[in-house]
Amino acid sequence: MASPAADVVVIVGSGLIGRSWAMLFASGGFRVKLYDIEQQQVTDALENIRKEMTFLEQSGSLKGSLGAQDQLSLISGCLNIQEAVEGALHIQECVPENLELKKKIFAQLDQIIDDQVVLSSSTSCLLPSQLFAGLAHVQQCLVAHPVNPPYYVPLVELVPHPETAPATVDRTHALMRKIGQSPVRVLKETDGFVLNRLQYAVISEAWRLVEEGIVSPSDLDLVMSDGLGMRYAFIGPLETMHLNAEGMLSYCDRYSEGMKRVLKTFGPIPEFSGATVEKVNQAMCLKVPADPEHLAARRRWRDECLQRLAKLKRQMPSQ
Ligand code: NAI
Repeated sequence: MASPAADVVVIVGSGLIGRSWAMLFASGGFRVKLYDIEQQQVTDALENIRKEMTFLEQSGSLKGSLGAQDQLSLISGCLNIQEAVEGALHIQECVPENLELKKKIFAQLDQIIDDQVVLSSSTSCLLPSQLFAGLAHVQQCLVAHPVNPPYYVPLVELVPHPETAPATVDRTHALMRKIGQSPVRVLKETDGFVLNRLQYAVISEAWRLVEEGIVSPSDLDLVMSDGLGMRYAFIGPLETMHLNAEGMLSYCDRYSEGMKRVLKTFGPIPEFSGATVEKVNQAMCLKVPADPEHLAARRRWRDECLQRLAKLKRQMPSQ
């Protein structure tokens, strides 16, 4: 059994992502201290988590082996950072995506943490070399980038600073596995990490195909949701290659010339403006009007789909 001090995880910032992390760590049996500068944010976060966990338990989707009430009792709000981090195992920063704000918080944490705790940022696109430059505890720092909504989409990109100790990455990898997430090691930092680089490559070609009048915006989305995406929920592009021929070598042998011919026709980076943005926006608004109610309803539907998919993935044997 872990010592009482060893199982505390601190969440810095109790917004959308901080709340999700709090629920995930509680599902793994960790004690969670949810820190924020705003009392109201903490109060709202705890209330939101309570509702969410009750709903998840009723719908059979609560993660972990503890019931909702036990998981809730593991989470407490906190407005004193010094008190929050004392004896903590892991600190997950989730404040708004602003380099200066995050650097200020890491500089503050650097003064008060011990030599054991892991200091991790949820940033979507700030580089570890910018975030952690000059910190005395840089060896204990890394980025652990989740995907929204983290409760249903388990991927976490672990991105080290060049001076991050390998043990910091290993410990965080093990911790993520323990709370049911799916960590990947990004071996060297690069702008956009891996997930957003892939996502932007897809968005970029989608945009060009619509811009060039090759396909309508709604059919473009169908190509992904009813085509490529069906496979991608289970196997990645590299395994897809392997399975679509008699193994990878056979795929490259058969299809590399064709792939290179098509890839040479890809156009420049789109501007994402002008007539094309009007056209895409019109098509999207026809399906989902861009007002808060319709967007929220569609997000709820998306999250329910992801929740059911996550359940199916858990039930499927990996072989
Ligand atoms: P949010 O705006 O919902 O929450 C930010 C929270 O930080 C608020 O509760 C705010 O009161 C608090 N805060 C502000 N200044 C603070 C300070 N000095 N000390 C402590 N708390 C403070 O933001 P969200 O969406 O949760 O994003 C947090 C981080 O997660 C960002 O870096 C974002 O890029 C990253 N992220 C967001 C994703 C998303 O889809 N929203 C997905 C993956 C990562």
